[in-house]
Amino acid sequence: MYKGDTFIIKILFSTSPHSTAVQWLSKEQISGGVHPFLFTQCQAIHARSFVPCQDTPSAKMTYNAGVKVPFGLTALMSALPTNNNNVDNDGQTILPSSSASMILDFFESTSTTTNACTRIFTFTQPLPIATYLIALAVGDLAYKELSPVSRVWAEPSLVGAAAYEFAETPNFLKSAEEIAGPYEWGRYDILMLPPSFPFGGMENPNVTFVTPTLTAGDRSLANVVAHEIAHSWTGNLVTNRSWSDFWLNEGFTVFLERKILEKLYGTAMYNFHASQGFVALQKTVRDLGSDHPFTALVPDLSGGQDPDDAFSRIPYEKGFYFLHYLQQVAGGPAVFDPFFKSYIQRFKAAPNVTTNDFKAYYLDYFGTTVPAVHDIDWVTWFYKRGMPPLVNTYDQSLVQASYDLAIKWHTADILGVGFDNDNANDNDNDGKGKDLVSTGPEGTSADDLKGWSSPQIVAFLDKLGELRSMTPLHPTTTRKMNALYGTMLDTTTNSEIRCSWYLLCIKAEDSVAVPLAVDFLKQQGRMKFLRPLYKALNGSRVGKVAGRECFEKTRGKYHPIARKMVESDLGLL
Ligand code: BES
Ligand code: ZN
Repeated sequence: MYKGDTFIIKILFSTSPHSTAVQWLSKEQISGGVHPFLFTQCQAIHARSFVPCQDTPSAKMTYNAGVKVPFGLTALMSALPTNNNNVDNDGQTILPSSSASMILDFFESTSTTTNACTRIFTFTQPLPIATYLIALAVGDLAYKELSPVSRVWAEPSLVGAAAYEFAETPNFLKSAEEIAGPYEWGRYDILMLPPSFPFGGMENPNVTFVTPTLTAGDRSLANVVAHEIAHSWTGNLVTNRSWSDFWLNEGFTVFLERKILEKLYGTAMYNFHASQGFVALQKTVRDLGSDHPFTALVPDLSGGQDPDDAFSRIPYEKGFYFLHYLQQVAGGPAVFDPFFKSYIQRFKAAPNVTTNDFKAYYLDYFGTTVPAVHDIDWVTWFYKRGMPPLVNTYDQSLVQASYDLAIKWHTADILGVGFDNDNANDNDNDGKGKDLVSTGPEGTSADDLKGWSSPQIVAFLDKLGELRSMTPLHPTTTRKMNALYGTMLDTTTNSEIRCSWYLLCIKAEDSVAVPLAVDFLKQQGRMKFLRPLYKALNGSRVGKVAGRECFEKTRGKYHPIARKMVESDLGLL
């Protein structure tokens, strides 16, 4: 062997059942209930528990893979399929050796018979990707075509609903290309996973993974797909060098997501999501504490912190907030849009990008034409903890009604007016005293929420929660709200409304909501919903015991990452 020689290393490896990247689901955990299911989630640093690799976003690789699965199941990877009809019993698929090649043998671990039929799926990922984007899913999967390059995959009984929900995908892709440049990956598929998938979405190349909690029936939560599509440029092509630079992935992706929505639905929609993002940013800073190190846009993770522990809405929403500000300083979208596209083109072939690379590129691009860019306080934006140093203003046209309604309920609750608190007024004669008749306080009406999109309802509930972050509502108020709105709040199946509503009720010590929240926690395992709801139950009088019992019963069904985060939130670690 001489310097400069190339050679092939063959590594035989197996994962353990405790691999944090891999979740094995028994057939009972799947809605079809017939076949087992497997999926991986490698971001941020779990790829190392799945395949041997240099598990850092600063090292990229192409890969080829063959996956041997029991007959009847389908394998998908974050790559292009190269041969899906290969029925084979010997596992001798030949893979090109020019890049990392893996043979993943799912069959060994799931079958008790040795001579059952197997099937081999082969894949190639010709573009260099970071290891956190390696992904595999195996299950009984069906698909529907959305366009010649896009399919929606799901368990057969769910694929129709999934295809309806994500039908806007081709439009999202087209708008994203207009903003960021050509889509370089070839296919764009979506896989809807079983309910224990711990995230809303994960931008695995060629096949975004999504939670089934997005199936609202009205496409109102499909912005998550716009977000994952946006990662095809910001994150997957232009990649953060380290997890301290995570805002370069997520802040940019939220920005591009909102630009996609703006192109399709208008500027008011961009501003709606921007305003809601600001509410989320305020809440995150308040929850973490304004001096918490993880409230900095570029946190210091050099002490060996796990990026899972640093994860919050900060890189998303402070990152978005900063980019919106930089867009204003530069002179607005007319000049910032071409800059954004050129940034992608400049860094897409680079191995990765740092916060300072971005700053240098921005200053280089605008430095001579826009004097104001020299006044930007970069150090404060990047490293100072807490809220951003200045305030952006957004058009409020789509959020105003939600915020106004929140103020009405907030005021009525404080004043205690407009409620039927008279125990003698037992309308249904059940002898239990007061009834919550369906008239609300001054200025409210049963029609308040009619025609509102689910994000507008969530905006109303979250704003009310924000107004009452110090002094919770009275439980009579939350019951009154439910009654006035035709019990819609208690009975909705929209996951975002459920989460916001139950949080409001639990904080109000409204015991009626506790079993509803517990059901929701048993039905799905998305961390965005588990973490705040378990925390709220645990901090309440009415839900503490039920919350703990629910976690004890359900923890085994949650994804290992979700389980660990909830355990840490509840002080069980
Ligand atoms: N890449 C993230 C998910 C992620 C982040 C997984 C960090 C592991 C570690 C994905 O793109 C994402 O941000 N998903 C959001 C959706 C969104 C619209 C903000 C989610 O899951 O809620
Ligand atoms: Zn993202």
